[in-house]
Amino acid sequence: MGIEQKIRELRDQMGQRIGQIDSKDNLAAFWQEYLGKKGSIAELMKGLGAVPKEERPSVGKIINEFKVQAEEQYRALSERMAQLELQARNRKEAVDITLPGKVRPMGGLHPLTQVKNEIIHVFAGMGFEVFEGPEIEDDDHNFTRLNVPKDHPSRDMQDTFYLPGEWLLRTQTSGGQIRVMDRQKPPIKVLVPGRVFRSDSDATHSPMFHQMEGLVVDRGITLCDLQGMLDRFVQQLFDESVRTRLRPSYFPFTEPSVEVDVSCFECGGKGCGLCKHTGWIEVLGGGVVHPRVLENCGIDSSVYSGIAFGIGIERITMLKYGINNIGLLFENDLRFLKQFQ
Ligand code: DAH
Repeated sequence: MGIEQKIRELRDQMGQRIGQIDSKDNLAAFWQEYLGKKGSIAELMKGLGAVPKEERPSVGKIINEFKVQAEEQYRALSERMAQLELQARNRKEAVDITLPGKVRPMGGLHPLTQVKNEIIHVFAGMGFEVFEGPEIEDDDHNFTRLNVPKDHPSRDMQDTFYLPGEWLLRTQTSGGQIRVMDRQKPPIKVLVPGRVFRSDSDATHSPMFHQMEGLVVDRGITLCDLQGMLDRFVQQLFDESVRTRLRPSYFPFTEPSVEVDVSCFECGGKGCGLCKHTGWIEVLGGGVVHPRVLENCGIDSSVYSGIAFGIGIERITMLKYGINNIGLLFENDLRFLKQFQ
């Protein structure tokens, strides 16, 4: 078979081969087959020696043209393969932008923490500092030095969880008063927030709850200072229009002692379900610090006087938001908590 005939056949064959190339691998095989060291074109070149001298230039030219053609095909196919590869990769790595995103819900502060912060904010504006005492307290700080001696009947006002020895779970943050007065001399203006514990449980009582103690000690402090500060407090927390009323009460560590009511912020004092038709709502206890408590901390009660108060944070929170069961504040049900964000 003449070399020209051979080239014609190869060219036809190559036309068919091109249609079958669909990957880089069989493109590499294509190159080997036609353009490689042992490929058909190299074979043709070798055969050129057997061609009569005078025909060599024209046959050589035909071989060359075929080579150029094969190279062009190879280049075009390379580009095509690169394109196909990119398309396949794009398809594989495609992101479905219509899919809904992953929602990361925002957290928020617990309503009790919010109210605690709010109370601190109000009193910080009047110059109060914050002090925190221990939850496991000794009998001395929780009772005795607050003028509640052992076996005194007023101990029964609070159902205490006793621990071995002198220890107990603090029933009130009032012990913070003693701790502050032990390390600081007047003028004193502190808030003592914290968790307290009592063996008590119903719709409005929980064995663990939170209090905020307030203490002011200086020269010439009277019950009027207490009412003035508490008026500001209820006005900022509930409504500018409310005011407080003091009723006589009893606490061992204050004399006189008062129960503090706020005029009803729901009905404005006319009487409604919230204030049980009295126009007033009880919010906290307080009084003038008993001179014996000051003396127990080495403060001269003939020079200094003080006022103190104890706020129940759950109680204030329940009133402020109309919550009727204290348990809701501790169950951590998100449907409940989300309402405070
Ligand atoms: N510690 C009291 C209680 O838990 C609340 C209280 C009343 C605190 C009068 C005070 C106060 O500082 O003066 O019931």
